[in-house]
Amino acid sequence: MELLDQIKEKARKLQNRIVLAEGTELRTLKAAEIIIKEKLARITLLGSPAEIAELTKAEGINISGAEIIDPSTSDKRQHYAEMMVEIRKSKGLTIEDALKSLNNPLVFGPMMIKAGDADGEIAGAINATGDVLRPALQFVKTLPGVSVVSGVFFMLFKDKSIGDNGILVFADCAVMPDPDEKQLAEIAVTTAKTAKAIANIEPRIAMLSFSTKGSAKNPLVDKMANATRIAQEMAPELMIDGEMQLDAALNEEVGQLKAPGSKVAGKANILVFPGLEAANIGYKLVQRLAGAEAIGPVLQGMAAPINDLSRGCSVSDIVNMVAITANQAG
Ligand code: ACO
Repeated sequence: MELLDQIKEKARKLQNRIVLAEGTELRTLKAAEIIIKEKLARITLLGSPAEIAELTKAEGINISGAEIIDPSTSDKRQHYAEMMVEIRKSKGLTIEDALKSLNNPLVFGPMMIKAGDADGEIAGAINATGDVLRPALQFVKTLPGVSVVSGVFFMLFKDKSIGDNGILVFADCAVMPDPDEKQLAEIAVTTAKTAKAIANIEPRIAMLSFSTKGSAKNPLVDKMANATRIAQEMAPELMIDGEMQLDAALNEEVGQLKAPGSKVAGKANILVFPGLEAANIGYKLVQRLAGAEAIGPVLQGMAAPINDLSRGCSVSDIVNMVAITANQAG
């Protein structure tokens, strides 16, 4: 069974509660109809009920079965505002400011999760990544023992000889602009967990650079070599190696030439890039030039799953991301 079919089947079994924060956005409403029809999750749409009713009527969209909550009138506002003040008392957040910011669905959604009223959230079809992530980072925060939220792409290839049965996982393509070596190590270890949980991949992690095992001397090379060592110390049970170039990571011959004896070189299925520029450009190159399907970004390390859509997303991208978020919620 293909990866997305597996993810959808699991989502159906879980029946998690997923918030679509951009409830008055047309692609989101069309996706909600499909999610409800395919029973992928229980859906909450945030937004004005009158506006949603007008849109669905005009477009012939059936979202019966979805919960609709208006963040500006919800009877949960006071409760959520008190929680927000408690979480950010060291930052001086007042109840008045909390109540005001709850009008924003991108704040209300994470607070629903924090209060146990939802299992996951999706937004980003009409909002920038930073605006989706900031309230999530401020109020939902990270998993215990994790300090860095990052984002992976599952790159799906028709050629099943690539990666793990046609799947490569790229990180971090979405969040940390310039991670330090400790953060890179954490990204590697968290990505291994995500790859296993979502795609049942046995991780072989390459820490990428423009050098393989000291072939070049540069502080940027040292950074990836140090990140590799820290990641190996953090998770000695995992196969992690680096620093290495992309060809050494993916090509068996080059891998054994440049990194002889490495358990990862030539066989990597997880690629950890040195920074957001390389990772974001890298996944788009592979998507556009190699024709790989890019599933993500799947955000990881957050205490509950909150995922960001691209503003260019399609209805099926939203449906897929709901299924992935439902899987992450477990
Ligand atoms: N992991 C965990 N916590 C974080 C992270 C992180 N990666 N980044 C920021 N935080 C925390 C901060 O410590 C802060 O906590 P505090 O308020 O309790 O002290 C809080 O989150 C908010 O941080 P800010 O400094 O206010 O927000 P910042 O300006 O750093 O924004 C953001 C964080 C939005 C994630 C930023 O790093 C960003 O914009 N990243 C790039 C996103 C992007 O544009 N990606 C490319 C597009 S996506 C795509 O193409 C697939």
